[in-house]
Amino acid sequence: GSVDKGEYKHYMLKEIYEQPKVVHAAMEGRLGKDSVLEQAFGAGAGEIFDQVKQVQIVACGTSYHAGLVAKYWIEDLAGIPCMVEVASEFRYRRVVLPPGTLFISISQSGETADTLAALREIRDRVLASLTICNVPGSSLVRESDLCLMTNAGPEIGVASTKAFTTQLVALLQTTLVLGRRHGLKPETEARIVEELKQLPGLLERVLGLDPAIEKMSEAFAEKHHALFLGRGTLNPVAMEGALKLKEISYIHAEAYAAGELKHGPLALVDKDMPVVTVAPRNEMLDKLKANLQEVRARGGELFVFAGSSQAVEPEEGVQVLELPPVPGILEPIVYTVPLQLLSYHVAVLKGTDVDQPRNLAKSVTVE
Ligand code: AGP
Repeated sequence: GSVDKGEYKHYMLKEIYEQPKVVHAAMEGRLGKDSVLEQAFGAGAGEIFDQVKQVQIVACGTSYHAGLVAKYWIEDLAGIPCMVEVASEFRYRRVVLPPGTLFISISQSGETADTLAALREIRDRVLASLTICNVPGSSLVRESDLCLMTNAGPEIGVASTKAFTTQLVALLQTTLVLGRRHGLKPETEARIVEELKQLPGLLERVLGLDPAIEKMSEAFAEKHHALFLGRGTLNPVAMEGALKLKEISYIHAEAYAAGELKHGPLALVDKDMPVVTVAPRNEMLDKLKANLQEVRARGGELFVFAGSSQAVEPEEGVQVLELPPVPGILEPIVYTVPLQLLSYHVAVLKGTDVDQPRNLAKSVTVE
C-alpha cells in the first residue's frame, strides 16, 4: 500500500501517535468561532436535524464503544433518548422505533457486514440515516442519507485506535447540532467548541507519558487476566481498553462499570488480576475509592489513570499515572490514549503480531 510505517515499529504505534493530527482533521472546516457548522453533514442536514426526536446508534466492536460514549453525551447535552446496540443483534430482532428516529451507524471501514445489513433493514422505517465513517465512498457512506467523515486517514493496524478517537470527535459534533435544537445553550456549545480546539494539544501531552506507560506494561506481560473499571463516559473507555488488550496481547480482559464490581467481578480479584481504573476527576475517584480499597484488600494490583496524583494515596500495589487536567467533555477521548499505549506495549513484550493479531480481520465484510 501507499502508507508506510515510517520511523515506527508498527502501524498501530504510528496510528496512536497520529491522533493529535487526525483529531484536528476531524474538526477542520467544521467548527465556527463558537458553533459546529452543520453543512459538514451533507445537503439537507439542517432540515433533518430539526425533526429528530431520538437517536438509534448501531455499530460493532470499537465503533460500538464510540456509540456508547455518544449515548452519555446525547442524553446529557441534547436531552433526547439515545439507544445503542451492536449491529449483529439489532439486525435480527424486531426493533421498535418511535417516529423521528435518526439512525446513526458508526464504522471505520464503512463495509462491516452486520452494520450495513442493519442500515438496509431499517432505512425505510427511520427519519433519516447518518453514518460516522472513515472511508470515503464506502458502502455505508453511499447508502446513508447523511455522513460525517472522521478524516483519520487509512488505518492499517487491525486494532482500531485513531478511528475511535476521531469517531468521538464526530459524535461530539453531532451531539452539539442536535443539542442546539433541544435547549442546549449557545454558551455551552461555544465552550465545548473552544474545548475541542484544545484536544490536539492535550493528546500530544498524553503521548508524552508513553515512557511511563511502557514501564507500567511490564506488570501485565505475565498475567492472564485483567479488569478495567470506569464510570460515566469512562465506562465505555474501559471497555475499549479491555478490547484492545484482548485483541493484541491475548490477555483476557473484562471491563465493568465501577459500581458493578461488588455485584460479582470482585470475586475474581487476587494478586494475579491487575485492575486498571480510568478516573479523571476527584468526584468520580471518591466513589471509586471504596471499590479500590476492596481491590487492595484482596491483594489486587491497581493501575490508576487519574487527573491528579494527589487523588489516590500512593501505596504498595497502587500505581498512579497522572494525566493533564482535561475538560470533562473531552475525558473519554483523552483517557483512551494511555489505554491504547498500555495494550500496545504489553503486546510488544509478549511478542505478538501487533498489527495482524491472530484470527482477526481488519474489516468484517462477511457474517
Ligand atoms: C477494533 O480494534 C476492531 N478490530 C473491531 O472491533 C472493529 O472496531 C469492528 O470490526 C468494527 O469495524 P468498523 O468500524 O470498520 O465497522
